[in-house]
Amino acid sequence: MCGIIGYIGFRSASSVITEGLKHLEYRGYDSVGVAVVHQKKLNVRKDKGMVQDVSTKLDFTSMDGHMGIGHTRWATHGGVCKENAHPHTDCKKNVVLAHNGVIENFSALKADLASKGHIFDSETDTEIIAHLIEENMKNSKTSSFKEAFFTSLKSLEGSYALAAFAVDDSEERLFFARKNSPLVIGVGKDELLAASDIPAMLKYTKTFVPLEDGDVAILTKSGYKVYSLDGKEVSRKQMTVDWTAEMAQKGGYPYFMEKEINDQKHFINESLASDVTAAKSLIDQYENIHIIACGTSYHAGLMFSYLLGERGMSAQAYIASEYPYIVKPNKNTLVIAISQSGETADVLQALRYAKGCKKIAITNVVGSTITTIADCVVFINAGPEAGVAATKTFTCQLGIIYKIIYGKEKLESLSSLIEQMLKTEKKVKEIASALAKSENIFFIARGKNVPIAYEASLKLKEITYIHSEAYPGGELKHGPLSLISEGVPIIAIAPDDETLAKLFGNIKEAKSRGAKIISLTNNLDVQKESDFSIKLPELSSIDPMLYPFAMIIPLQLLAYHVSVLKGINPDRPRNLAKSLTVE
Ligand code: F6R
Repeated sequence: MCGIIGYIGFRSASSVITEGLKHLEYRGYDSVGVAVVHQKKLNVRKDKGMVQDVSTKLDFTSMDGHMGIGHTRWATHGGVCKENAHPHTDCKKNVVLAHNGVIENFSALKADLASKGHIFDSETDTEIIAHLIEENMKNSKTSSFKEAFFTSLKSLEGSYALAAFAVDDSEERLFFARKNSPLVIGVGKDELLAASDIPAMLKYTKTFVPLEDGDVAILTKSGYKVYSLDGKEVSRKQMTVDWTAEMAQKGGYPYFMEKEINDQKHFINESLASDVTAAKSLIDQYENIHIIACGTSYHAGLMFSYLLGERGMSAQAYIASEYPYIVKPNKNTLVIAISQSGETADVLQALRYAKGCKKIAITNVVGSTITTIADCVVFINAGPEAGVAATKTFTCQLGIIYKIIYGKEKLESLSSLIEQMLKTEKKVKEIASALAKSENIFFIARGKNVPIAYEASLKLKEITYIHSEAYPGGELKHGPLSLISEGVPIIAIAPDDETLAKLFGNIKEAKSRGAKIISLTNNLDVQKESDFSIKLPELSSIDPMLYPFAMIIPLQLLAYHVSVLKGINPDRPRNLAKSLTVE
């Protein structure tokens, strides 16, 4: 996964691109590069490191020129080093190219090009595309970059979003192409952009054209055209978004994650305003429902299956990458895919596998690939999420799920409930200090609190690097209990609901083996058993069905504060990226 951006217009291309790359960094942040052309002279600056550091070190914004491309990388082919950073060029330093995706047949292409004398500077699959275009230019009568670009695309297997230009092109123009990796054109006044995602362009425009698989776009100073792979012009819909550039900024918080946790009190209302009528009526027509998603979105999906199950419906949540191994859906199955980005390759593959089934997509991103596959789309309206760890988009996914099941009226107090739970931060910080040196942390819960335990555990491990597991309380005795010894923290999600009596037994079971108990509860007996406790609202002041929203907020804050205490950047945890467009 990587982020790409291109600009052509009247501004300094390197400044627009550098700014845009900061918004794309969630897609990958091990190296970064910019290439601009000015009076037919190419200037490429790139290195390993994060956008802020590399752009300052190499003084990106001093590069002259009004056309260029940029890239932020998450390594797939080749290690993290300057040579492997994008953009890449051909032998003559004429074809310039940045890529997001994976070229599956790159070894064969590379061997063929090497036999024709091409010399490669990097280990990446991307560089071979620049050489392939160079080779095809040699072979074309006109030496046309445009013709060679189209020809080369036909040889590529795998996934790509490409941004490219040729220094010696007959006119100043940028080329883009997409296959299974996102790409959106941003249409400004006398300027055009294209990028992997909308926030990178929000400062300059609110008008966008999402490209479809197989599209090639050519941007010049006077406009853009979109073509199919066989060179025929196609028309693609323009849309406008009401996101503001500020929504994609940190707004005074040290990290996006903290801002996004705090923003939940606002965005939950946006989410609840989303129209779920069509999705609800589809759900009511089916007896067999499969929910597919990954990571955090899977936990929202799991919650969906518990809630539908409570209503006597048959709904099963599947991890998207496993789905094709487990079941064979048929036309009587309704498939619901949940994906914040709408671009997660595992989810898209699972959806494609569910051929012939009606499909609902629940997503945050207008124009994302999932919206082109599903029959019915529900937007969670959470605004752009920049932190790698999903927070507000999880709560907003839950908001949509709850609205589908219970209707909006019962959810009106959600925003104030979230606000109330944000006030637990002082206590959460105290607990974070007590946990920061732990090597293992366990979460337990029962019933529909289990997806919250899974989600809290995922959040903690991904941004603190502390090993963490979550279990339904009843499972402790079937194995994990052997890991509990003096001082091992167990976080018990213990609201006063139908799960409490049995979970209390599990808490005692762990405590008698020396566990340090941290509880989220509104029950006095559980508080007494606990070393630390985060108070949930009194039973009299909360509708128990809303407990999941109350519990996830302090648990997100806990992961965040442990991460910061350990000196980790919670927005950019190691080895992870936000939008996973590879399987
Ligand atoms: C964890 C996280 C990931 C994503 C997962 C699916 O904080 O963000 O686990 O939830 O990669 O991503 P989407 O929802 O975009 O399909």
